[in-house]
Amino acid sequence: MKTQSAARIQSLFPVLLASLLVLGTAQLVFDSLKSGRSYVFQFYGKPEKQRKSVFVLPEDRMDDSCNLFEGQWVWDNVSYPLYKENSCPYLVKQTTCLKNGRPDSFYQNWRWQPNACKLPRFDPLKLLDILRDKRLMFIGDSVQRAQFESMVCLVQSVIPKGKKSFQRIPPRKIFKAKEYNASIEYYWAPFIVESNSDHATNHTVLKRLVNLDSISKHGKSWEGVDVLVFESYVWWMYRPQINATYGSVDNVEEYNITTAYRIALETWANWLESNINPHLQKVFFMSMSPTHLWSWEWKPGSNENCFNESYPIQGSYWGTGSNLAIMDIIHDILQELKINVTFLNITQLSEYRKDAHTTVFGERRGRLLTKEQRADPKNFADCIHWCLPGVPDTWNEILFAYLLQSYQNFL
Ligand SMILES: *[C@@H]1O[C@H](CO)[C@@H](O)[C@H](O)[C@H]1NC(C)=O
Ligand SMILES: *[C@@H]1O[C@H](CO)[C@@H](O)[C@H](O)[C@H]1NC(C)=O
Ligand SMILES: *[C@@H]1O[C@H](CO)[C@@H](O)[C@H](O)[C@H]1NC(C)=O
Ligand SMILES: *[C@@H]1O[C@H](CO)[C@@H](O)[C@H](O)[C@H]1NC(C)=O
Ligand SMILES: *[C@@H]1O[C@H](CO)[C@@H](O)[C@H](O)[C@H]1NC(C)=O
Ligand SMILES: *[C@@H]1O[C@H](CO)[C@@H](O)[C@H](O)[C@H]1NC(C)=O
Ligand SMILES: *[C@@H]1O[C@H](CO)[C@@H](O)[C@H](O)[C@H]1NC(C)=O
Ligand SMILES: *[C@@H]1O[C@H](CO)[C@@H](O)[C@H](O)[C@H]1NC(C)=O
Repeated sequence: MKTQSAARIQSLFPVLLASLLVLGTAQLVFDSLKSGRSYVFQFYGKPEKQRKSVFVLPEDRMDDSCNLFEGQWVWDNVSYPLYKENSCPYLVKQTTCLKNGRPDSFYQNWRWQPNACKLPRFDPLKLLDILRDKRLMFIGDSVQRAQFESMVCLVQSVIPKGKKSFQRIPPRKIFKAKEYNASIEYYWAPFIVESNSDHATNHTVLKRLVNLDSISKHGKSWEGVDVLVFESYVWWMYRPQINATYGSVDNVEEYNITTAYRIALETWANWLESNINPHLQKVFFMSMSPTHLWSWEWKPGSNENCFNESYPIQGSYWGTGSNLAIMDIIHDILQELKINVTFLNITQLSEYRKDAHTTVFGERRGRLLTKEQRADPKNFADCIHWCLPGVPDTWNEILFAYLLQSYQNFL
């Protein structure tokens, strides 16, 4: 059963993914063009700074035993969204669904409510205090880039003009809060390990080739980063096999996806074990971001996708887009790791959100869809990426909860 659905997804992904990943790619090209010349600024000021402590309220204390990933979405149009689409200048066009013409905004008004406790309220000033003199880096593909953008939007409004900056230095994007000497960064690495898709602005989508045992070039940019948040999934799910090298870069072979994914994560795990200082650095791994490509999975008998869905799925649901074999591999690798990596298992909570994808209110190949394309959601709806504000904000609320918790345990 498991294998069968895995086979089906892998055979259905290609058409849709090819175009959507091109879309993600084009976005990066576009972003870097827009930025023109990147610059690096320097910090002035004394290293000896008054270190303020983060004030943790009793209601922010999270019960260690509370599972934040089991719960439900509750309607909350009073507190949500946590920021407004048009108040965050750093959002790329791909995620600004309302501006792009989406008629309903219900998808912005849901709060994730864990069964056993409450998520602490997202407090941008607290996060900045936690990140004082630190770097937080998101590493992965375009889904991860949205989580990065969400995090920037969640904090940027509390920082006055002139005290923040945003740079694009491919494959990185860097947001800085100057007074805190804190940075929130993104690093493009769709397979985590190295591949021929690593150039942020000029890479192949169709002829992908992964170097399963190579990570050190990327790793150089990750060294010493205080909080690392990794993610990699959708780029693997293109065909049941993938071209890859192991050992010699001239020896290209086709690997089963699951085999290749496991080897890649082992390479990553080895890098962590020899480069991370667990006393100074924290590492997170995001589980797969689900897709909603086939409406028959939640609405038997239908033959559409996530387009025109306005409400979350009620009751239990797990789509075939979230590959259980990949989940098992992640589980095994994290079990064997000699350092602690916090696994943020956001797949299930995001599975309910068939309503929250960009659908036809996003981009393809760096351009907003045309009127004609919009009228053809069967071929043009994007059911992989998410609108912002939206689901990635919740992932960040959970990340914040963990950072807050480890901070308070540390005090
Ligand atoms: C919030 O939701 C409630 C219940 O659906 C509705 O009655 C109310 O008008 C909404 N408020 C706003 C500001 O949208
Ligand atoms: C600023 O933060 C960086 C890490 O992001 C750190 O290496 C540096 O020492 C900090 N500078 C000061 C003046 O504290
Ligand atoms: C993109 O990469 C290809 C292959 O590496 C190269 O031939 C081409 O010149 C590059 N294009 C640009 C605009 O850099
Ligand atoms: C691997 O590369 C070869 C040669 O470019 C190509 O014919 C084949 O389709 C590729 N396999 C996969 C799984 O992409
Ligand atoms: C690759 O997958 C196919 C089909 O799922 C399976 O029959 C085969 O044994 C796998 N090969 C390896 C080397 O795991
Ligand atoms: C969206 O769904 C509603 C019913 O839920 C239907 O009335 C409407 O025509 C649909 N819109 C489009 C553009 O398909
Ligand atoms: C993540 O959560 C899902 C559903 O809640 C569960 O089936 C899966 O085993 C979890 N993964 C890991 C690695 O714990
Ligand atoms: C990992 O974290 C757990 C609980 O937070 C702790 O008990 C354990 O000692 C840590 N292990 C390592 C290798 O740091």
